[in-house]
Amino acid sequence: MIKKVGVAILGLGVVGGGTYKTLLEHREFYKRTQGVDVTVEAVLVRNPAKAQALGVPEEIVASNIAEVIANPNVDIVVETIGGCDAAKDYVLAALREGKAVVTANKELICKYWHELERVAKRTSCGLYFEASCVGGVPIIRTLLDGVQGNKVEQMMGIINGTTNYILTKMTVEGADYAETLQEAQRLGYAEADPTNDVEGFDALYKLSILSSMAFHTKVPQTKIFREGISQISGKDIAYGKELGYTLKLLAIGKNTDKGIEVRVHPTFIPKEHPLASVNDAFNAVHLRGDAVGDIMLYGRGAGSLPTASAVVSDVLYAATHSEVKYATFKNTATAESNVKFVSDFESAYYLRLSVDDKPGVLAKISGVFAKCGMSIIQIAQKGQYGNLNKDRVPLVIVTHKTTENICKKAVKEIKSLKIGTIESVIRVEQ
Ligand code: NDP
Ligand code: HSE
Repeated sequence: MIKKVGVAILGLGVVGGGTYKTLLEHREFYKRTQGVDVTVEAVLVRNPAKAQALGVPEEIVASNIAEVIANPNVDIVVETIGGCDAAKDYVLAALREGKAVVTANKELICKYWHELERVAKRTSCGLYFEASCVGGVPIIRTLLDGVQGNKVEQMMGIINGTTNYILTKMTVEGADYAETLQEAQRLGYAEADPTNDVEGFDALYKLSILSSMAFHTKVPQTKIFREGISQISGKDIAYGKELGYTLKLLAIGKNTDKGIEVRVHPTFIPKEHPLASVNDAFNAVHLRGDAVGDIMLYGRGAGSLPTASAVVSDVLYAATHSEVKYATFKNTATAESNVKFVSDFESAYYLRLSVDDKPGVLAKISGVFAKCGMSIIQIAQKGQYGNLNKDRVPLVIVTHKTTENICKKAVKEIKSLKIGTIESVIRVEQ
């Protein structure tokens, strides 16, 4: 006999709407291939027009969370509201009532995973969040059930669709930053507050979840270095291109002898690097395990149906597995006291300066680099800045690997020379 499973969807926006459509359209397919009859028994919306537009039958539109939780036909609650206000209360209420929860909410899992899991364990419920990281790319399942035989040494990825979309358009078409961000919002890639995307918070939430899972220890968001793309100029993208680099917002996690290193920042990578050709809202994560070696996962990191694919995968998993898995590490709010984190990480650097066009300026700058023990790979004086700043010229410098603190010291000393301004400092992965 086919097992019947009832689902409630909280929030019918980009992801919730895609989930509703996918579950409805594939009902017969899931009966045949998964042996479960999944029906949507309730939806919770703030605006009933959203439900009407999707053709949701009026009788399953709930007016409050209590009604959803009390519905005996609801086995699994899907949270696609976002944020940590109503979403957190509703998820906790569902778990307390013994309902499995599937969520796409990376902010909620990053900040409150420990709290939600405590309740889930108490009521023996599943808490699933594949859609929270890297959209339709099954990275969570890969970490849980694919590479669990490995010690994962590092991961590096493009894990935010909005910023990758913006950077791709700026690189390929020389597009305007603000206009492209609006386009990403229209396409449903961006978060409700796109600051989360462009300032790197979305990638930081995801990296906290992924590196905790990969390294089997809590990596709280406070340990992650973060820098967004809002200050990136088209000039840097163009100069980087001339040097053979492509600019990406990278999330990097390493488990080294010195400790765990976790960071999110705009990064120049060589144009031949496998991540350089990951464009638009596509995402990719490169993992290195001690047994398997290198693995790369690639796919759509945002958008309605790709994300619904991950939500529905969790729904089907919850519907077909009675055994529940929890975190493989002590799931607390903070990092364990014996775990070290590396903040003074190593990197190569690209610097763009706007300097006085006078004899001796270059010598002073290279003197600072020599004093700080920073080795220069390339230095190039570019053409003048149009009609403005006639006495200033752009100077582009690429260094060998050094540490973050040494680079900061050199930047400070160059500023004190009063020979111009430092316009940008961008990390380079070779
Ligand atoms: P949307 O803003 O499109 O959808 C959220 C929906 O929730 C809106 O329709 C909103 O209603 C509704 N809502 C808000 N508060 C309540 C409430 N109290 N009760 C009922 N409904 C409510 O966001 P997304 O679908 O893009 O994102 C949802 C979640 O999925 C977020 O956590 C996001 O980070 C995550 N995610 C998003 C991806 C994407 O590509 N968009 C990809 C992966 C994850 P109203 O219309 O009235 O505002
Ligand atoms: N805003 C997110 C992004 C959605 O652009 O990647 C997917 O998590």
